[in-house]
Amino acid sequence: MYTQSFNVPDAPVAAAGPREIKPVLTQEQQQAMDRAQSQFDRLIDADGKIEPKDWMPEAYRKTLVRQISQHAHSEIVGMLPEGNWISRAPSLKRKAILIAKVQDEGGHGLYLYSAAETLGTSRDQMLDALHTGRAKYSSIFNYPTLTWADVGVIGWLVDGAAIMNQIPLCRCSYGPYARAMVRICKEESFHQRQGFESLMVMMQGNAEQQAMVQDAVNRWWWKCLAMFGPPDADSTNSTQGMRWGIKRISNDDLRQKFVDATVPQAKVLGVTLPDSDLKWNETRGQHDYGQIDWDEFWATVNGNGPCNKERLATRVKAHEDGQWVRDAALAYARKQQQRLQQQQEAA
Ligand SMILES: [Fe+2]
Ligand SMILES: [Fe+2]
Repeated sequence: MYTQSFNVPDAPVAAAGPREIKPVLTQEQQQAMDRAQSQFDRLIDADGKIEPKDWMPEAYRKTLVRQISQHAHSEIVGMLPEGNWISRAPSLKRKAILIAKVQDEGGHGLYLYSAAETLGTSRDQMLDALHTGRAKYSSIFNYPTLTWADVGVIGWLVDGAAIMNQIPLCRCSYGPYARAMVRICKEESFHQRQGFESLMVMMQGNAEQQAMVQDAVNRWWWKCLAMFGPPDADSTNSTQGMRWGIKRISNDDLRQKFVDATVPQAKVLGVTLPDSDLKWNETRGQHDYGQIDWDEFWATVNGNGPCNKERLATRVKAHEDGQWVRDAALAYARKQQQRLQQQQEAA
């Protein structure tokens, strides 16, 4: 699915360890550090890529670990609301499409965990942060999928919003993240289209099916607008993210692009977007839209959405149920290594 569209801090670790003591640097060490910093700055200014073995400021590394791991968590938690519908898809064709999409999201999680690992964190650490509730993931997945139309709307609007947010990440300054995003965006584009197509079929159906689509659009529209994160005026971390070439387009600009792209699609579908303030502004050459309920958004981000507990419990259970697979893979790897060693010794 897609990234948490904004930079939200994870919860602090409950029992803080001893306070980090900054080492005193010799003059030569300080000079080497300054040189590394200027090289980093030059590369960023030239729109170049930072690679895993390059020197990078600690704050840059930490920001990326947080953002990429939150993104990875969002991909795998994002499998859950739609996964609920695999066994209830209305036809074999829709079931096959949905299985492929949910599997894609799992793959996105894998690319992203791997990208985060190049920054010196481990898969176990990241998953532990998710499973103990310290790490955030995109709040959109804390809402339920009540009908089959929700699956289509998630593809059309949630994946649609994700693409808007993720395309600029293909130019992110951190090489492994940018490269992972290129493939992810291609797959997300299929997700968006299958959602739209599925809704189109329902809209050509009977009145009950059409009402089901409209109801799902009504429930998801505002949540999708909130996915882009708080207004620019309230987004304190964005400036640094822009400076580092991690964030390229502001929350409000991305949200505006999404609204402008979606309004004509809604017309083609024949659904109404649930916002009485939504109208074309001739002067701005963009759509005006109404107020987002940020209180509801923050309540969900902070763990009080309708499905937060259920999502986390399902994820933890899936991880625990998969322990035998990890054990088997490790045992197999050990066996392979031993065999290789014996062959080398015999040679
Ligand atoms: Fe994805
Ligand atoms: Fe997706």
